[in-house]
Amino acid sequence: MQSRHFKPEKPWLLGFVVISLLGGAFVITSFIRDTNTGIFCKASSAMRSAFVSSNTDDLQLQAIRHYATSTIVPQQSFKEISITYDVLRSLGRPANFLVFGLGHDSIMWASLNPRGNTLFLEEDPHWVKTVLKDAPFLRAHTVKYRTHLSESDALISSMQFEPSCFAKNAFLRGNTKCKLALDMLPNEVYDTEWDLIMIDAPRGYSAELPGRMSAIFSAAVMARKRKGSGVTHVFLHDVDRVVEKTWGKMILCEKYLVKGVGRLWHFEIPPFTMPTNGFC
Ligand SMILES: C[S@@+](CC[C@H](N)C(=O)[O-])C[C@H]1O[C@@H](n2cnc3c(N)ncnc32)[C@H](O)[C@@H]1O
Repeated sequence: MQSRHFKPEKPWLLGFVVISLLGGAFVITSFIRDTNTGIFCKASSAMRSAFVSSNTDDLQLQAIRHYATSTIVPQQSFKEISITYDVLRSLGRPANFLVFGLGHDSIMWASLNPRGNTLFLEEDPHWVKTVLKDAPFLRAHTVKYRTHLSESDALISSMQFEPSCFAKNAFLRGNTKCKLALDMLPNEVYDTEWDLIMIDAPRGYSAELPGRMSAIFSAAVMARKRKGSGVTHVFLHDVDRVVEKTWGKMILCEKYLVKGVGRLWHFEIPPFTMPTNGFC
């Protein structure tokens, strides 16, 4: 009588079948797991890039809509804007871009630096509110200036005798003694290495206004303290005016001036590893 229990005639064959099934199961589960991981990976990376590109598109689309429906255009000319545009493109990565002044060009600067860090410093708190009401996605801080345009010559002299303004030990955060130093900025401004600095503010068209002396001085101090590779690109607008021209040459230095178009100068300032007596 045959046993009710299965007794293989070829036990080695059973062993082979069991091992094959186990092996097959392992291969199939690995495949399913890999496939799932692949699908999830692809899905999450697609979601990530959709998120990133939707962020990018958002800013740029808003810029297009804004300028397509606005009767007010930025003050800088096409050729002037192109200098900064070319630098942003040439970096080939999101940049740290510090802009002195909020204006009709702010949405443009932010959208030309997608995924980058574009930060605006504005003297007038009411103007900050007005601009951010229509463009809440812009990032801006209010800055208090301690100078007046009328003091420009006196401030040039003060740089000879006020040690806290000397190039070799100039610093910004908490530098209350040097009126040229923007001493009360948010830490974020001091702690970031800015790749580009645009100086198109504060206002400097009449004696009682702050003038751009301390924006120029502070930009130079930031650029000289750069630790990373490369230079700091500093753009100075309104160089048809005496104060911008004088301070640009004296603090940002003629030898670092690489381009000038219309009323815009472009400086490339290298980091300073050794203290120097003067700025240039
Ligand atoms: C010399 S303007 C530069 C303007 C900028 N380049 C542009 O295209 O709009 C810079 C400063 O002027 C002031 N400003 C500019 N437009 C303004 C406006 N419509 N109303 C009030 N203040 C304004 C702000 O204080 C700003 O920081």
